[in-house]
Amino acid sequence: MNTVRVVQIVGARPQFIKLAPVSRQLARPGSGVQELIVHTGQHYDPQMSAVFFAELGIPPPAANLEVGSAAHGRQTAAMLERIEDFLLESRPDAVIVYGDTNSTLAGALAAAKLRLPVAHVEAGLRSYNRSMPEELNRVATDHLSDLLLAPTEAAVRNLAREGLSDRTRLVGDVMYDAVLANRELARSESRMLQQLGLTAGAFGLVTVHRAESTAPEVLSRVLALLERVSGVLPLVMPLHPRTRAAIGSALPDWRPPAQLRLIDPVGSLDMLQLTGAAAVVITDSGGLQKEAFILGTPCVTLRGETEWVETLECGANTLVGADTAAAVAAVQLAMTQGPPFRTDAASRAARFYGEGKAAGNCAQAVVELARGGTSAPGAAVGASGR
Ligand code: UD1
Repeated sequence: MNTVRVVQIVGARPQFIKLAPVSRQLARPGSGVQELIVHTGQHYDPQMSAVFFAELGIPPPAANLEVGSAAHGRQTAAMLERIEDFLLESRPDAVIVYGDTNSTLAGALAAAKLRLPVAHVEAGLRSYNRSMPEELNRVATDHLSDLLLAPTEAAVRNLAREGLSDRTRLVGDVMYDAVLANRELARSESRMLQQLGLTAGAFGLVTVHRAESTAPEVLSRVLALLERVSGVLPLVMPLHPRTRAAIGSALPDWRPPAQLRLIDPVGSLDMLQLTGAAAVVITDSGGLQKEAFILGTPCVTLRGETEWVETLECGANTLVGADTAAAVAAVQLAMTQGPPFRTDAASRAARFYGEGKAAGNCAQAVVELARGGTSAPGAAVGASGR
């Protein structure tokens, strides 16, 4: 059988985590795949990029396009231009993009314009909030892609509503596979709790990075909320560079209270250890809501809606927006949850997200795409469900 060439395009932190298990599957002996990873350079700080490649054993990128930070249009345009050049030169049989970042959209658009088959991993998520740049990226990417690899049944339904069923496959969630693969590694390798002097179950883990949360108006409300919550439970907050910069420019005199500890961004193994050991996760991230659910840690989400609706259905996640009273109440409730809650959440997550078979399903579907096969309409390669 001829070898097929597959280009994987990534650029931002969560995409490195999602790529790792798929890359392992594509690299299996006999897979007949030559894999080339393209890093757009959207994330470039060592703690936002290199640490993930090192910890997760991801092969070095064939190219780093070094686009760096810029306004959305400018950043996406720079990616488009450089991705197009790379694809013209490498002429792959298929291209894989992940999630909903500017790197995702640029990769899908550049490939689709060159008429190269595109597979979108994590297709079909919707927040139905068009003020999120990620929502625009998701919708556009799904409509540009030839193969929509959906993580959940809810995502399959969303794609059906947009007339995309014939390109959709339910494969499960690659982030679930990643957590399974990295959990044990985190246990043995990460010293984060010791380094920070934290006791499992006695702290809350916070992340805030979205454009909507870091706008000056909202940021001061979010920080006030966190100050108040830290009076109930000590908090640890790895600070995304965007948030650090936003605090520096909008609230230069702000200092966190002692119970709200700001630390530098952490790698994926340290993050997994913190997430699993926290009494509660408080976040505006999409991926972290789900990682908390998978690890059985209750989550309080600083947004008005979520793409990961199953976390709500299971009572594992509470949406509080920037409402301090609601956040305090949700954190207090989370602090009362014991081991049965955690075990129940973790086993439901396994069912929702495909029991760890997603990366294998993705690889199989992409190889078929690259070989010119079509994906069966609506076929479930490996169903996830309740
Ligand atoms: C991007 C994604 C978001 C994802 C997040 C993960 C888009 C639209 N958003 O948001 O969906 O959840 O990645 O973190 O693509 N910066 C640095 N060093 C870095 C990276 C960023 O200092 O290595 C700073 C820069 O000031 C930059 C800002 O962070 O302007 C925002 O980075 P950017 O990549 O534009 O978006 P994220 O907020 O990281």
